Parts: sequence; structure tokens; C-alpha cells
Amino acid sequence: MEAVIQLKNVSRRFGEVQAVRDLTLEVYRGEIFGFLGHNGAGKTTTIRLVNGVLEADQGKIRVLGFDPQTQGPQLRARTGVITETASMDNRLTALDNLTIYADLYGVPRAEVKTRVSGLLAQFELAERANDRVAAFSTGMRQRLAFARALLHQPEILFLDEPTSGLDPMAARQVHSLVTHLAREEKRTVFICTHNLVEAQRLCDRVAVMEHGQLVAVGSPHELASRYVRRLMVNLETDPAQRESALEILAAAGALVDGQPELANGGLRFAAAGREAIPQTLSLLVNKGIRVYHLSAEEPDLEDVYFALHAGKEQ
Ligand SMILES: Nc1ncnc2c1ncn2[C@@H]1O[C@H](COP(=O)(O)OP(=O)(O)OP(=O)(O)O)[C@@H](O)[C@H]1O
Ligand SMILES: [Mg+2]
Repeated sequence: MEAVIQLKNVSRRFGEVQAVRDLTLEVYRGEIFGFLGHNGAGKTTTIRLVNGVLEADQGKIRVLGFDPQTQGPQLRARTGVITETASMDNRLTALDNLTIYADLYGVPRAEVKTRVSGLLAQFELAERANDRVAAFSTGMRQRLAFARALLHQPEILFLDEPTSGLDPMAARQVHSLVTHLAREEKRTVFICTHNLVEAQRLCDRVAVMEHGQLVAVGSPHELASRYVRRLMVNLETDPAQRESALEILAAAGALVDGQPELANGGLRFAAAGREAIPQTLSLLVNKGIRVYHLSAEEPDLEDVYFALHAGKEQ
């Protein structure tokens, strides 16, 4: 696997705040990499360091082999960024914004027109192409930012919270686009998000940051099996036996993390792990409980996120 982004022991502070602390990380070509963490964890700072907008106090960064500090222009010719607050020229139309940027990015003259109109169409902005950006909604701006970031067909795309402020439909379009870019076009996508469902669905691997430090990295599945010890079990019994089932489970110590809740006519409770499933089933059946349904929910990134941060809140 080829590492297209490499950080080695990278640190950056702002006055008293250590925004990024000794960060070592690799992102591989063609993967969708998620960057998670609380507000202020250092995600945006990392993106800015990697893009050469900020300078690291310590450590080494390479993007496509380039040093962002000394080879910024070469690097930016092959990467695209969508920041938290994408700045467009509000006085200009969508078409003009893209045309100007195409020029800045060095898109060959002969291709500018087709590429710009192709992207406007792809992001459903063709009808608004001649409207000033000042009149655009948040979602339209975000779509325009995507179009702009893709003008020069970058190998790596950095997305800082790309779906915040988007309606569910537009968010889903972003998801399909990201998947398409990575799977069909083999581009690398580095995405900061607070949306754990989004990260779970999209990302091949994720990193979790906390106070500028990396606390975990791996695929959502790997992280779930490494950090989440429990899983949720849904159990449906003969309704007349529900109370007895509960007593049996409690007596056997099968319930962890508090009392079960009633859900969809059945019980829902936390169990210690996969092995709890056959144990629970045989326990109940042996005691004469009629089990109609038993299912386990594999832990997801949300469980990982809370397991990693458990006990660390003030
Ligand atoms: N230009 C700056 N000047 C001073 N402090 C900064 C600057 N940029 C970031 N910081 C501080 O660095 C820390 C990390 O900020 P950063 O923007 O990287 O967080 P984040 O993980 O992107 O958070 P969010 O989820 O809220 O976007 C914060 O404490 C922030 O206040
Ligand atoms: Mg941020």
C-alpha cells in the first residue's frame, strides 16, 4: 500500500494550546480516511498543516512525496481542499468563480469550459450558473465548493465537515460522490466529520483525535472489536414470560450496564460480548422460556467513540 500522506511526530501549538501533539499517521492511496474527534481536537489544524497553510513546530510531513512547506504549489496542484468555511467570491456568479479558479489551478485553457460546465451540471448548479454566489444557500455553496475542489482533478481530496449544513438528500449525494471518487477513480479522500454514521458508512479507516493526540486508528470494524467490549441484544419471548426471563438473566449476571429497556415488545440489553449470545439463549431455553427472537447488534463507531471517551469528560 502506498502512503500518500505521511506525518511523523508532528506538533503544532498556538500560544498555550497544543493543537496537535506528536502526531504520526499514514493515509494510503485510494482510501477514504475519516478524522474524528471533539471540537478543538486538532482536526482542522492537521488539515492545514498537511496542506502547507500552517507550519509545524516539529515533525515531518510528506504529501505525495512533497514537503508542504517548501513545495506547496506542486502539492496543491494535485490536492483539493474543502474547508469548514469555503470562501467564494460573493460578488461573482458560480460560473465566474469556477472559471477563475480553473485558471488559478492551471486547467488547460481548451478544457476550462467543458470542465466547468460539467461540474456545474454534476452538482446541479447549471440553472444557477449565472447567479451571484451571494444569493446561494449553504448547501448550494457547499456544492459549488465541491465543484471548485474537483476542477483540477486532484489525487487527494481533503474535506472538512463536508456535509454539515446539508439537507439529507444533498448529504447523500456527497456520500455517493466520495465513494465514487475513491472506488471508481482511485482518489484518496481525507474527511473530517462529527457525523459518526457518515464515517461508519464511508470510511475504510478512521483516526480518533483527542486534545491534539491520536487515540485510535483502524477500520470501523477493527476499532469496534478492539475498544467495545459489549454489544446490544434484542430479545423477544412469550410476553407472559418476560418478567421471568428478566429475573433469570439478572440472576445469571447476563445483564451489564444497567437495566434492560422495553423495545418493540421485547427486551433490549447490553451483554458482555459475542459469547453472551449462545449463553443467554441456552440459559433461557433450559429454564423453559419460549424465545421467539434473539439478535445482537454489532458495535459501531458511535460505540467506539463513546468507549474511547468514557470517563474522560469533566
Ligand atoms: N489560528 C489559530 N490561533 C489560535 N488557536 C488556534 C488556531 N487554530 C486552532 N486553534 C486552536 O487549536 C485547537 C484545535 O483547533 P482545530 O480547529 O484544529 O480543532 P478541530 O478538531 O478542527 O475542531 P472542530 O471540530 O470544532 O472543527 C483549538 O483549541 C483551537 O482553539
Ligand atoms: Mg475543525
